[in-house]
Amino acid sequence: MTELITGIGELTTHDDSGERRHDAALVIGDGHILWIGPAAQAPAADRQTDVGGRAVLPGWVDTHTHLVFGGDRSAEFEARMAGQAYAAGGINTTVAATRAASEGELVATARGLRREAEAQGTTFLETKTGYGLDVASEARSARAAAQVADVVTFLGAHIVPPDMDRRDYLDLVTGPMLSAVLPYVQFIDAFCEQGAFDVEETREVLLVGRAAGLGLRVHGNQLGFSGGVRLAAELGAHSVDHCNYLEPADIDALAASTTVATLLPACDLSTRQPFPPARRLLDAGVSIALATNCNPGTSYTTSMPFCVATAVLQMGLTVGEAVWAATRGAARSLGRDQGADAVGSLFVGGRADLQVLNAPSISHLAYRPGVPLTASVWRRGVRVD
Ligand code: NIG
Repeated sequence: MTELITGIGELTTHDDSGERRHDAALVIGDGHILWIGPAAQAPAADRQTDVGGRAVLPGWVDTHTHLVFGGDRSAEFEARMAGQAYAAGGINTTVAATRAASEGELVATARGLRREAEAQGTTFLETKTGYGLDVASEARSARAAAQVADVVTFLGAHIVPPDMDRRDYLDLVTGPMLSAVLPYVQFIDAFCEQGAFDVEETREVLLVGRAAGLGLRVHGNQLGFSGGVRLAAELGAHSVDHCNYLEPADIDALAASTTVATLLPACDLSTRQPFPPARRLLDAGVSIALATNCNPGTSYTTSMPFCVATAVLQMGLTVGEAVWAATRGAARSLGRDQGADAVGSLFVGGRADLQVLNAPSISHLAYRPGVPLTASVWRRGVRVD
């Protein structure tokens, strides 16, 4: 079954030209894009969908979420909005609720959030463990995550649980816990921050993960100058996420590396942290990604359109830069921006992961912030909206 999509007001493909096309049509079939070209030359297909002058673009690639959790932290959120500072210790509240939940409950919560994300245009999604923090609960979280997400990251090194000795916990994370989650995960991550793990502890966790065949991600410089960003760049991590506090040397280190800086604007709003210096990162030549960081503590949203709008309105990105960061830049941070498995861009032979906006142009994502603009979504060529 092939489908010809016509009536496209503006097509953003994120091919290497970076252009937005105004005369294009595309054909999808078997989950892939079979043809892109001028509408006047479109081949026949089994079915035709006219999108009525709307904008078409790749589906969002959300590379930083923590969807496997139990409980709710709205009281902590309210206290924060009343002036209390965010601290990593709040994670313990979610750890207790996650350990108390069944695997079925964890999968159901994560699935519900994934569906919510899909309805807003997300077609590829990473999620993490990190609210189990003992071997059985992390393994259960990883299994649940693998049922829901496209890519799973092991975040045993989220914090040291209060009942454990630091050294014993690091031995657990880098030993039996890693072995237990390994069948389900593709990346390893660590929260490099005061109150969580220091640079040398983070290095130890990441190197053991790399030796086990995992890609590297880091939570770095979220609450202060933690050293996580420079470590990520030094180790050639796929991504360093948060990046709120950056010294010039951090930006230089990123610019000299292949590490993507993943920025999380919804989290910055919800924790009242300063936004990362996105403009300086781009001007230095650093690749950036945007993600929701959906989690019950610091960023309880699945909305990539909200993140794109905030990045434009508050962080100084152009609309084109923000959309690239939420699609192809995000794919780069997962090592999925090129080749047959690529996501976040539309090209012949690539995955038919795309969305139609209820708007003539991607500019409306920031021009009309907060308005639900997702008209329809195809994931692997199948409508999911
Ligand atoms: O990315 N920073 C560390 N982890 C999560 C928040 C965890 C929580 O407070 O539950 C984040 O913001």
